[in-house]
Amino acid sequence: MTQDELKQAVAREAIKYVVEDAGSGVGTGSTANCFIDELAKIKNRIDGAVASSQASADRLKSHGIRVVDLNSVNELPVYVDGADEITEHLAMIKGGGGALTREKIVAAVAQKFVCIADASKLVGVLGKFPLPVEVIPMARSHVGRELVRLGGQPELRQGFTTDNGNLILDVYGLSILDPLKLETEINNITGVVTNGLFAHRGADVLLLGTAAWVKTMVRK
Ligand code: 5RP
Repeated sequence: MTQDELKQAVAREAIKYVVEDAGSGVGTGSTANCFIDELAKIKNRIDGAVASSQASADRLKSHGIRVVDLNSVNELPVYVDGADEITEHLAMIKGGGGALTREKIVAAVAQKFVCIADASKLVGVLGKFPLPVEVIPMARSHVGRELVRLGGQPELRQGFTTDNGNLILDVYGLSILDPLKLETEINNITGVVTNGLFAHRGADVLLLGTAAWVKTMVRK
């Protein structure tokens, strides 16, 4: 199977976690796009979707799926999203598409986080993929210096502004042995909105597309 076919396979599998007559949280990126396309096939059985980015909201609307404001829901049974890297403990690096803050907010509300990914995303140690950090523009240099102090090499994502009007620093050179600790440390830097480590709120379920089948891994 090609990488695209693996993404479609995990997206199809994720539909099993969607709760009928309720809203679903929807992530951002090429794998999440496959999920949106699958969701469209059952749009009459769901009560709309909460989007983690403007791009996903636009794709949902193009399929005729109602986009629901997160503030108008008390509960969200499930959130389905991709990842840039994920460990067997279901901690992740996310934010390759720059939507990490809204993704983290929707994930915080959701009862169950279902991560969908092709096998290339499963890693032993997080950090080969540069860690995205969303930063308030006036704090860019300060946050950059603090990230260097933590052992990283931050690079400004050129020509990119988040849906929240902020910047992204992509941090290279990290070998993240303690994702919980680093997530907290980076979030404690003044001027950081949030970082792309999803360790405190990791995935509950990983649907991993391998050549032979979709493997289901559950957070212990
Ligand atoms: C976007 C994300 C995506 O989930 C992540 O980048 C994976 O994307 P893709 O499915 O295209 O590989 O965090 O901010």
